[in-house]
Amino acid sequence: MRLRLLVVGAGGMLGSDVVAEAERRGHDIVALASRTALDITDLTAVCACLRLHRPDAVINCAAWTNVDGAQSEPEAAWRLNALGAAHLAAACSETRSWLIQVSTDFVFDGEKGSAYHEFDAPNPQSVYGASKEAGERLVRQTLPDRHLIARTSFLYGPHGKNLVDTIVRAALTRPSLTFVEDQIISPTHTADLATVLLNLATEPLPGTYHVASAGQCSLLEFAKFIVGEAGLATPVLGTTFAQYVATAKPAAPRPRVSPLERKMLTLRGMDTMPDWKDAIRSYLKRR
Ligand SMILES: NC(=O)c1ccc[n+]([C@@H]2O[C@H](COP(=O)([O-])OP(=O)(O)OC[C@H]3O[C@@H](n4cnc5c(N)ncnc54)[C@H](OP(=O)(O)O)[C@@H]3O)[C@@H](O)[C@H]2O)c1
Repeated sequence: MRLRLLVVGAGGMLGSDVVAEAERRGHDIVALASRTALDITDLTAVCACLRLHRPDAVINCAAWTNVDGAQSEPEAAWRLNALGAAHLAAACSETRSWLIQVSTDFVFDGEKGSAYHEFDAPNPQSVYGASKEAGERLVRQTLPDRHLIARTSFLYGPHGKNLVDTIVRAALTRPSLTFVEDQIISPTHTADLATVLLNLATEPLPGTYHVASAGQCSLLEFAKFIVGEAGLATPVLGTTFAQYVATAKPAAPRPRVSPLERKMLTLRGMDTMPDWKDAIRSYLKRR
């Protein structure tokens, strides 16, 4: 089925891969790369844009993604992550478009101790997490019948600064690396997420979906695996989350254990997400 898709934040790390996958499938795409093309904090502009293009679905890849920076600029983060999402939902309501809103594992506090599924209660700890969770709620309220909320985690892809590339670069230049051994994540390749987002756009059923690589790992396992796959022998040492927080003093609190279980995709028979190791292998091969 050929869809008319409008991608917001199309120039970002995820947005670039969403546009590439949509083009590969032959959809009709309006790709709005940046806030210059469409500023989603401007309701009038958002409504005018949707009235002009009347898409079947909008994929919102635009967000305030600077987690630590959001702590000192909460208003700007909330305006983009919460209000911007609400603007898109209101405009979609008028044009009867679906809205695919991308969200994050940072809506959880990390205290569960195991993977979060879609029916676990959010409890964001940071401004970023709270603003994204508010965006989710506004989208659900405004567009109850035509929303898809896709929560993802620890993205890496060829079109943005990401930890996989950072680890490879650091392993080439530093005598050793240190990573946290008790922070547990589901690292996710943007290309795999883009595939699922477009599958959901084709077979939409309103709701919240977790979309992250299968399996989980500590940051230490993640770093060791990348260094090994890059053919390097740089030692990767472990530290604890508590030590990291005490030393680096990040501005925003982070969930320590926040892998995502893909319950909704599994129930719907739509889980195409690869194992995290296979995803990294295929990313490194393509670079
Ligand atoms: N990165 C991660 O590890 C991660 C993890 C979990 C969830 N997520 C979620 O995944 C989604 C995509 O993240 P990403 O890392 O791909 O983001 P990104 O690379 O930071 O891209 C964000 C995009 O949003 C655009 N943008 C910023 N302000 C805007 C505005 N006012 N109006 C319209 N567009 C605006 C940016 O364009 P300009 O700045 O050029 O205007 C850019 O194209 C986000 O919803 C994020 O919360 C990300």
